[in-house]
Amino acid sequence: MHASRRPFVGGNWKMNTDLASGAELADALMAALVAAGSEGVIDAAVYPPFPYLFTVGRTLGHSPILLGGQDCAAEASGAFTGQVSADMLCDIGCRSVIIGHSERRHGLQEGDEFLHQKLAIALESGLQAVLCVGETLAQRDDGLAEAVVAKQLRGCFGTLTAETADRVVVAYEPVWAIGTGRTATPQDAQAMHASIRGVLADLYDSRFAAQTRIIYGGSVNAKNARAIFAEPDVDGGLIGGASLKAEDFASICRAAAEAWSAAGGH
Ligand code: PGA
Repeated sequence: MHASRRPFVGGNWKMNTDLASGAELADALMAALVAAGSEGVIDAAVYPPFPYLFTVGRTLGHSPILLGGQDCAAEASGAFTGQVSADMLCDIGCRSVIIGHSERRHGLQEGDEFLHQKLAIALESGLQAVLCVGETLAQRDDGLAEAVVAKQLRGCFGTLTAETADRVVVAYEPVWAIGTGRTATPQDAQAMHASIRGVLADLYDSRFAAQTRIIYGGSVNAKNARAIFAEPDVDGGLIGGASLKAEDFASICRAAAEAWSAAGGH
């Protein structure tokens, strides 16, 4: 953590919960964040499945927890069967959206050019975007991790101006660490986050790079969060499995708040 960047912790529920358990989870989460003393101290967000967004949003009410979509369409509106636009997300109270999660990059073959369009339209709609980048295990073993991530960043930010792109949170999620129980070491995460900050400085400038939040995702849990968040360029996390348990997610938010406070932030 760095004092100048407010931590961001997102809970990506993926294709989990049902209507009732999603609302219960949101309810439990609000209570757990208050109990952990981290409500409103950091930016916390949840990304429920599309059909439950409205209900979860109503449950969250005036809570400072941000509501977000797990994806949005690359087009504004029209004949795109089954897709959900960024404006629709805004319309039902979302303030954030995840773009380019590896389960979409690899499972659904979404490439950087396409993700750039999604990012541009999400930002244009007023959403904050969590842009995911990350290498596969084969790419890491071949020593290509930093080059792969740099290419993804360049492709996805593309022609966006700094004024537009300042609502982007970058999530570094090594593909081999997602849902596998295998996390990057805090040192590996720090090295990649520093490299990402270097790419952002190159794409924009050092001020932009210094103010952009770069969060880590991949098997973060209540036990390992503290060590990862202690690294100076790690500004929070994108949490999958552990976000489905209110207590665990609240502990992770608390770890972020404590790491920030230890770094001199408030
Ligand atoms: P995980 O997922 O925490 O279950 O590894 C992280 C993510 O996919 O964002």
